[in-house]
Amino acid sequence: MSFYDTPGCTPRLQRSELAVPGSNPGMFEKAANSRADYVFLDCEDAVAPDDKARARKNIIEALLDIDWKGKGKTLSIRINGLDTHYMYRDVVDIVEQAGQYLDTILIPKAGTASDIYMVDCLVTQIETAKGLEKNRIGLEALIETALGMANVESIAQSSRRMEALHFGVADFAASCRARTVVMGGLNPDYPGDQWHAGLQKMLVACRAFGLRAIDGPFGDFNDPDGYREAAKRAAAMGYEGKWAIHPSQIALANEVMSPPEAEVARAIRVLEALEAAAKAGKGAASLDGKLIDAASARMAENVVRQSRAILSTD
Ligand code: GLV
Ligand code: MG
Repeated sequence: MSFYDTPGCTPRLQRSELAVPGSNPGMFEKAANSRADYVFLDCEDAVAPDDKARARKNIIEALLDIDWKGKGKTLSIRINGLDTHYMYRDVVDIVEQAGQYLDTILIPKAGTASDIYMVDCLVTQIETAKGLEKNRIGLEALIETALGMANVESIAQSSRRMEALHFGVADFAASCRARTVVMGGLNPDYPGDQWHAGLQKMLVACRAFGLRAIDGPFGDFNDPDGYREAAKRAAAMGYEGKWAIHPSQIALANEVMSPPEAEVARAIRVLEALEAAAKAGKGAASLDGKLIDAASARMAENVVRQSRAILSTD
């Protein structure tokens, strides 16, 4: 392993992540048949307090009845926050009754590494008691509070199950008391991207500790251009996926989070040119009038790896 590599978590394609309220079972089959790489069934903010118990039951049924894996989906659940009395039952009931069909658990409003530790302990106990160790459930966390952002590096290192962090722009805005116009969009009063600092801080924590970095929601599902712009800003920084809070956003996320053909073709040419240079005893080369070197090869490898992962699922 070179300094550049990070210890990898379970590799999964996570370009588009469809959020589906657990209280809305009518949407489950559609979600399973969609083009989303990832689906999370929500116990948290999309479910009203009176519907929490029913939503949990719906999710268990959906895990048992629908062949998510067969349909190419990674299946996650978003549990309620640790500051609610719903959370323990979300984990206990769902993992006990259907944990063998669950890929990951998304922990909202993660504030400290101990939050992750608590969920990890519960999951470990249930997996051991139920003999589910073969399908170890991964953990993911939403960084969406000022406390979570302040502790993002320790959260990123908090568990060997940890796979990804998500930037929860809506709650982050609320926690920071930011003035917002549309969930995940830009406030014109701010000169630039008001989410940039948070996005960058979380991205670096992810890459330093081998996690996937996922951008959260964009609320205006009637504004595909606004969604595309937000996704492109995140992708340019190194994010590899974005939430879809409406089915129409799935294709947009897949499009933006897949390297364009021209980028893949150029990456292959970079690698070929550097291979030829290495044979001639040189570390650097020139391609289309621009210098390329070993760092260019690493960037090109990222693109080729991502493109192969996408091709292998099509
Ligand atoms: C997601 O949960 C968010 O708050 O943006
Ligand atoms: Mg949130």
